[in-house]
Amino acid sequence: MDKKVKDLINAQINKEMYSAYLYLDFANYYHGEGLDGFGAWYDKQAEEELEHAIKFRDYLYDNGEKVKLEKIDKPDKKIKNLKDPLVFAAEHERYVTSLIYDIYKAARDADDFRTMEFLNWFISEQAEEEKNADDMVSKYGLFCSDGKGLYSFDKELASRND
Ligand code: FEO
Repeated sequence: MDKKVKDLINAQINKEMYSAYLYLDFANYYHGEGLDGFGAWYDKQAEEELEHAIKFRDYLYDNGEKVKLEKIDKPDKKIKNLKDPLVFAAEHERYVTSLIYDIYKAARDADDFRTMEFLNWFISEQAEEEKNADDMVSKYGLFCSDGKGLYSFDKELASRND
């Protein structure tokens, strides 16, 4: 595999692990505020990020490459109110999309068609992740201006099962 492509994929394992850590931090915040539906939503997000990391790890192994795990940064977002994690998550997903595109561009430059094909799943996934994150921000704005709305939205989020 092209070295730049391999290095970017290896780095992406770390980015996905960081994403899991970040969402676990958001989950902790919401559980601490008594909003277990929001907490459960981010628990699930954290699990998905871990799955993403493993997909990248497996892809390197399946292509005969070595994996080098790096240190995971501490979640660094300062949460000041209930809406903050939702906004941070939307920003973060756009950043992750840009990282996936960077790997794709490197693969394209190296004529690495297999990696381009592999990344197609992540490109679709990122479109969904961005949409979900944006929906969370807009639904919060629409429904959560009072305690009753917040309570209902929290209940709705608790029922997430995918
Ligand atoms: Fe692994 Fe939320 O993107």
